[in-house]
Amino acid sequence: MSFFTDEEWVKWFDCLSGESYLVIDNYLPEEIYRISRNYLISHFENDDFKKAGIGASTSHMVKDSVRGDFVYWLSRDKDVEFEQFFELADELKEKLNRYCYLSLSGYEFHLAHYPPGAHYEKHIDEFHGRNNRMISVVIYLNEHWKPSDGGELKIYLSDKEIIIEPISRRCVLFISDKVQHEVLTTKVSRYSLTGWLQHHPSILGHVMR
Ligand code: OGA
Ligand code: NI
Repeated sequence: MSFFTDEEWVKWFDCLSGESYLVIDNYLPEEIYRISRNYLISHFENDDFKKAGIGASTSHMVKDSVRGDFVYWLSRDKDVEFEQFFELADELKEKLNRYCYLSLSGYEFHLAHYPPGAHYEKHIDEFHGRNNRMISVVIYLNEHWKPSDGGELKIYLSDKEIIIEPISRRCVLFISDKVQHEVLTTKVSRYSLTGWLQHHPSILGHVMR
């Protein structure tokens, strides 16, 4: 079973290769959205989220002034509720390999919570000593998001800046080592399912498969 048609994938990847980023609305199926959001809220209440760091394991730093989010890394084996989501991630990976001639071999995903007042400074999604992240994927889980809530994603391209509203079920893809971006200060709790498609397995970090 496929989530989307080849025509849809091809149309999306044309935009991604042309612009280095892509926004797909209503990407996350309703059912996966419900499961993810409920799961996120229950784990969040259990205090399972860890303060996100900056840099790879050895140089792990936790700095509020740079990023204020809390994350929970997903594991396909343990977090069985996410099986359908991982099937969608597999489809994304396979279609990128087929239509964009990439050689993606794995991915890693976490749930993220930005409490009110949190932001993430302008950055590129690359870890020191570990640069196998190729495509960044951010899927928003914010029920009834409204402009006064803040927490928009700001993308910096060579000729323009783009503001993306973190609307539920919306997916944003961009080239990890190329696109600078920033999360503007959120005024309410901001939730997302964020990950990276990798071009070969890493021995560090939280590799899923
Ligand atoms: C990140 C990131 C963007 C977002 O986690 O590296 O830039 O909109 N997230 O949550
Ligand atoms: Ni980022």
